[in-house]
Amino acid sequence: AFIVTDNCIKCKYTDCVEVCPVDCFYEGPNFLVIDPDECIDCALCEPECPAEAIFSEDELPADQAEFVEINADLAGKWPNITEKKDPLPDAAEWDGKPNKLQYLEK
Ligand code: SF4
Ligand code: F3S
Repeated sequence: AFIVTDNCIKCKYTDCVEVCPVDCFYEGPNFLVIDPDECIDCALCEPECPAEAIFSEDELPADQAEFVEINADLAGKWPNITEKKDPLPDAAEWDGKPNKLQYLEK
């Protein structure tokens, strides 16, 4: 599966959801996740993310390993999202800041 990682937090640009052929993105207050059971590994979402927050599980940076479980867990709790919306208000300011997991709202 593909995995949404740290840099999506507090940005949530949502360009990713529009291209997913199986609509497997799920939305929380300041982060999106991919349902690993639904993702078909098409790779279309990865280049769409302005924050470069999406990785194939095979190419996941070592320091993002905990996001595998976070995506699987929250995909079962959050509502589906299939249409792009405005990014969070301070997205540009937060894009690229490290270690945003502490700010994840569930
Ligand atoms: Fe959807 Fe394809 Fe991205 Fe998986 S890799 S989340 S199927 S767009
Ligand atoms: Fe997040 Fe990037 Fe999608 S910031 S909402 S993974 S376009």
